[in-house]
Amino acid sequence: MTDRQREFRNALGCFATGVAVATAAGQDGPVGLTINSFASVSLDPMLVLWSIDKASDRYRLFKSAAHFGVCVLDDAGQDISSRLSRKGGGGIAEDVAKTGKGGVPILKHALAHFECAAEARHDAGDHVILVGRVLDFDYRSHGHPLIYYRGRYRALVSSDG
Ligand SMILES: Cc1cc2nc3c(=O)[nH]c(=O)nc-3n(C[C@H](O)[C@H](O)[C@H](O)COP(=O)(O)O)c2cc1C
Repeated sequence: MTDRQREFRNALGCFATGVAVATAAGQDGPVGLTINSFASVSLDPMLVLWSIDKASDRYRLFKSAAHFGVCVLDDAGQDISSRLSRKGGGGIAEDVAKTGKGGVPILKHALAHFECAAEARHDAGDHVILVGRVLDFDYRSHGHPLIYYRGRYRALVSSDG
């Protein structure tokens, strides 16, 4: 990575995000990848997107998956986030609460989850943007999200006390 690219990453890191895990049914069991590129796209139809690094060891699986899940992590999800952001660390068999539409794994630590059919794939530099059509979703009305800011995990502090 060049100095300029590192600075670009630092600048992007000023945009505080939640943390999610993209999930799919792999050949040897359920697989997950930590992501923060998740975004809402469309209400009608219901569409979401995220982007995957072409260099990821899980790229082939997610690029070809007919269905994928996106699980927004709660504030107890830091360990699973760290584990699923390591090379070769995609197995999530013990972390799965249930299976959703299209066989997508849904995690115990999901504050919200989206069960998606792959709608479109867009080439974008060293990433591919995956657009998902939301077949089903659910969320917990209580709990707090895991936050990622300037390269570190954070907790949400409420300004209204
Ligand atoms: C908070 C956080 C957010 C991430 N967001 C993404 C993302 O949106 N897309 C992606 O491809 N990788 C993302 N990564 C990196 C992957 O989780 C993983 O670290 C990377 O793909 C290296 O493993 P791999 O090369 O074996 O896949 C993120 C990592 C962290 C810690």
